[in-house]
Amino acid sequence: MSSKKDKFSAIDRFYMTLAKNLAKRNIGITNENPSVGCVIVKNNKIISYSTTNQSGRPHAETLAIKRAKESVKGSTVYLTLEPCSHFGKTPPCTKALIRSKVKKVIYSINDPDDRTTNKAKFKFKQHKIKTYSGLMSSDINRIYSKYIYCKTNKMPYVTGKIACTKNYRFFYNNIKLTNSHSQSVSHLLRYYNQAIITSYKTINSDNPRLTCRLNGLKKFSPIVIIIDRNLKSNLKMNIFNKNHSNKLIIFHKSKNKQKINKFKHTGCRLYEIVENFNYNDFLISVLKKIYLLKINTVLVECGKLLTAEFINKGLINEFYLFKGSKKSELSRESILNITKKLDKSYKKKVVDTFVSNDRIIKYY
Ligand SMILES: NC(=O)c1ccc[n+]([C@@H]2O[C@H](COP(=O)([O-])OP(=O)(O)OC[C@H]3O[C@@H](n4cnc5c(N)ncnc54)[C@H](OP(=O)(O)O)[C@@H]3O)[C@@H](O)[C@H]2O)c1
Repeated sequence: MSSKKDKFSAIDRFYMTLAKNLAKRNIGITNENPSVGCVIVKNNKIISYSTTNQSGRPHAETLAIKRAKESVKGSTVYLTLEPCSHFGKTPPCTKALIRSKVKKVIYSINDPDDRTTNKAKFKFKQHKIKTYSGLMSSDINRIYSKYIYCKTNKMPYVTGKIACTKNYRFFYNNIKLTNSHSQSVSHLLRYYNQAIITSYKTINSDNPRLTCRLNGLKKFSPIVIIIDRNLKSNLKMNIFNKNHSNKLIIFHKSKNKQKINKFKHTGCRLYEIVENFNYNDFLISVLKKIYLLKINTVLVECGKLLTAEFINKGLINEFYLFKGSKKSELSRESILNITKKLDKSYKKKVVDTFVSNDRIIKYY
């Protein structure tokens, strides 16, 4: 086992770059599992390759072994992430690699999951499989930054977004403030996140669908989570339609059994947040529960009150401000208090993209 970079050749770097690009294909759509890239090489020839499947299973290693055009015995396996060593919904990938009698495994970084971290090298050693790690680690760390954050902090990685006019005005009732390009970017954020958090107020006033409406990507629409302390959501809204409500989660603190039953009838999942003396922050409790539900990435997409609460409590890892190209005086509501707080709270601020005349400003 070595982690020294000089142990690796230009050819190793070439195959790891391929593995990295394979991993990037499914980032954001492998549920709680990381998207891993795998390349299997034998006699200087690629005999198989794969990415973690879109739902997160099967894992890349199992798929690549299965798809190999010849026996993988004696091969070298390049992986972006340490192969798993624990039994989850699928058997461990270390076991599959050992059983296939591969000769060498080169993985880039350790898996931060407690159940597996740093275990693969010991398992492989017992079977005389050479193991090396550290190849292109800074590059690969970047693609797993959200996964690493959430496994280390036992909290989901939270992205926030809000839209406003050129003069920072904010409107109610679903009025579009940005152009269609900006709206596509915000749908891309939905694609990249496992869930959206919104408020009952936004549900009741906008009746939103909160799906990813980019061509061909609708099936990757996130789970919808509604923060609704006193169960005030209007059950006639689209989101409670039987076709969607199995992907709907409500966090509340209501004790009203009749109301709770009405909500349950829609097919959504309800979780009561019990506030107590030691543990009294509703939003932190919600995020902790979301992590336990195996949701690693969430997009906060709601009005200015709840957005401000998330920012003030320091619960948002990165934030996108979508600024339209037109001024408006039709609303007096401004989000300048939010932008001031964003300027203070984040180290970096970039005007990420100019989309036509709109601007998207990223804080992180
Ligand atoms: N421009 C945009 O990007 C955008 C995006 C989405 C929605 N909107 C617009 O926003 C409007 C609604 O905005 P809004 O500011 O009135 O409402 P909001 O921010 O969507 O939600 C406010 C509600 O969140 C709950 N809340 C706040 N802090 C909380 C905390 N710490 N813990 C638990 N719950 C908390 C409160 O519920 P309780 O009543 O239970 O206290 C509060 O009434 C909609 O009309 C919609 O059109 C705009």
